[in-house]
Amino acid sequence: MATTTTTRRRSSSSGAKRSSGSTTRAKTTARQTSAKSNSNGGESNRSKSSSEKSAFDFKGGWLGAAAAGAAIAIAANLGRKLAMQGMSAAAGDWDDMLAAEHEATLALFDKILATDDSQTVKRAMMIKKLTHALDKHAHEEEHVVYPALRAANDTHDADLLEGEHGYVKTFLFELNEMEKGSPDFLPKVREFRDMISRHAKMEEEEVFPRLKEGLTDEQNAHITMLVNKEGFKMA
Ligand SMILES: [Fe+2]
Ligand SMILES: [Fe+2]
Repeated sequence: MATTTTTRRRSSSSGAKRSSGSTTRAKTTARQTSAKSNSNGGESNRSKSSSEKSAFDFKGGWLGAAAAGAAIAIAANLGRKLAMQGMSAAAGDWDDMLAAEHEATLALFDKILATDDSQTVKRAMMIKKLTHALDKHAHEEEHVVYPALRAANDTHDADLLEGEHGYVKTFLFELNEMEKGSPDFLPKVREFRDMISRHAKMEEEEVFPRLKEGLTDEQNAHITMLVNKEGFKMA
């Protein structure tokens, strides 16, 4: 029995030594790893700084691309504005330009009236286009022509026409809000078209000719330039 116990003790002691040896090896390996890690510290830092540099380069590249994109967008928008206002300007004097815009707007109304209740997306896009065209037209008249009418002592007509522009915005609000497949959509568009047609007729046949005749060529040229300038802002 005593022999067996001693053997077991020896065996245990030898296991402890093996364990101690393995702990020492593990410590040595850890030290070596740590040393390697320290010796690679510079490389690691260099690698981090390199990745930061790439991120910086990427940001720089992104900013450059964004700036180039913005420049292209500005140029494209400028081109679009020139094309849009150019179509009005090509009509001639200020009254011809505004009459050409009336005609284009009434043509757009007719296209909307030719749609059916299933063409909801097309209707929504056309109402947006109509809104933009009428906003631009109202801006030109309200910032140039109606003030010129008041300066020529035609305040009554200037106020009447400007008041009607308020109802143009009400029609646009209602049509923008309305379900585009609603059976009420086309009757509302028809009512709106009739109102615009009467308003445009009064401007073209009564008010604008009277104003134009009362102005000199230079004054009319100045009004034409101002209408173009305001139209370009809104195009
Ligand atoms: Fe008007
Ligand atoms: Fe008009």
